[in-house]
Amino acid sequence: MRPLHDRQGRTYPYLRLSLTDLCNFNCNYCLPDGCEDHRHRQALSVAEIKRLVTAFSAVGVEKIRLTGGEPTLRSDFNDIVSTIKSIPGIQKVAMTTNGYKMDQRVESWLAAGVDQINVSIDSLDPRAFETITGHDRLQEVLTGIDKAFANGLSAIKVNAVLMKGVNDIQLGAFLEWIRHQPITMRFIELMQTGDNGRFFNQFHVPGRQIRDQLLAQGWVRMTRKKDAGPAYEYCHPDYQGRIGLITPYSKDFCKDCNRLRVSSQGHLQLCLFSESGHDLRRLLQDDSQQDELIREIRSVLRLKVDGHFLDQGYTGGTQNLAQIGG
Ligand code: 5AD
Ligand code: SF4
Repeated sequence: MRPLHDRQGRTYPYLRLSLTDLCNFNCNYCLPDGCEDHRHRQALSVAEIKRLVTAFSAVGVEKIRLTGGEPTLRSDFNDIVSTIKSIPGIQKVAMTTNGYKMDQRVESWLAAGVDQINVSIDSLDPRAFETITGHDRLQEVLTGIDKAFANGLSAIKVNAVLMKGVNDIQLGAFLEWIRHQPITMRFIELMQTGDNGRFFNQFHVPGRQIRDQLLAQGWVRMTRKKDAGPAYEYCHPDYQGRIGLITPYSKDFCKDCNRLRVSSQGHLQLCLFSESGHDLRRLLQDDSQQDELIREIRSVLRLKVDGHFLDQGYTGGTQNLAQIGG
């Protein structure tokens, strides 16, 4: 079968799949007041996920990233991982987690077949971590990372949302931390969502401020691989780790975007900030609809356009990123 491609000629080897929009953290830029109660909305079951991923794999998707909310809140998380791993054509299963109980659970994630882990750490200072997330859990995330390495994972990506006066002034601590560890420390510029307007105005800081500090200290920007994703990466001969910068407000950020997202309710979204998704769930109810599902995925993809207009204050239908998984 032909691989997915759109009008701009982009291919789509990668799908982000949200397993739930529930999250148990209260990150102040995302869910400061905690989650609304969505439990009455059943998230995709393992059987629905299997049909969905099988269809995407038939049109060229090779890698699935499991996101949330917090994907590991699902008690069938490991089952989902191993089910996806066994689908022909799927080469990698990645996950994005807030690191909750990672110290106790990471071995089971890896045993189920997880190939890549992205974990959020907005500050290496335990008190600041608690202030941001609402949880005094930095140590369990750090122990979880150690255990992931001890169990054979060769690299980890750590995400921090940049906040003015909070962690943009802690670059030195992050750099020390990755000096002897294969960690890519990624700073994500704070994005405005429907819920966080005031917070955004107070704490947004452009990623170029970090870039300038890195360049002044001898860090070098690496060339971008094809399908590298939105981060620009920097390396330094004295450091085992790398730095990534994700700057959604920069010009042309969306140009090469090949992200596809499916929500926990089975809606295909072409952009984090689109008004609404395309419901695929009705085609996930039994195996007989796979051909139609594939046709629908192809036709939706032709709609993907360049640019999200975030820089014009437009936040689309996205109230917070827990809804769709960042
Ligand atoms: N701006 C930037 N990044 C965000 N994330 C959540 N909300 C925002 C926002 N408003 C990030 C988290 C996590 C990923 C799931 O999305 O830090 O790394
Ligand atoms: Fe924090 Fe991610 Fe949960 Fe949002 S979804 S509150 S960013 S851990």
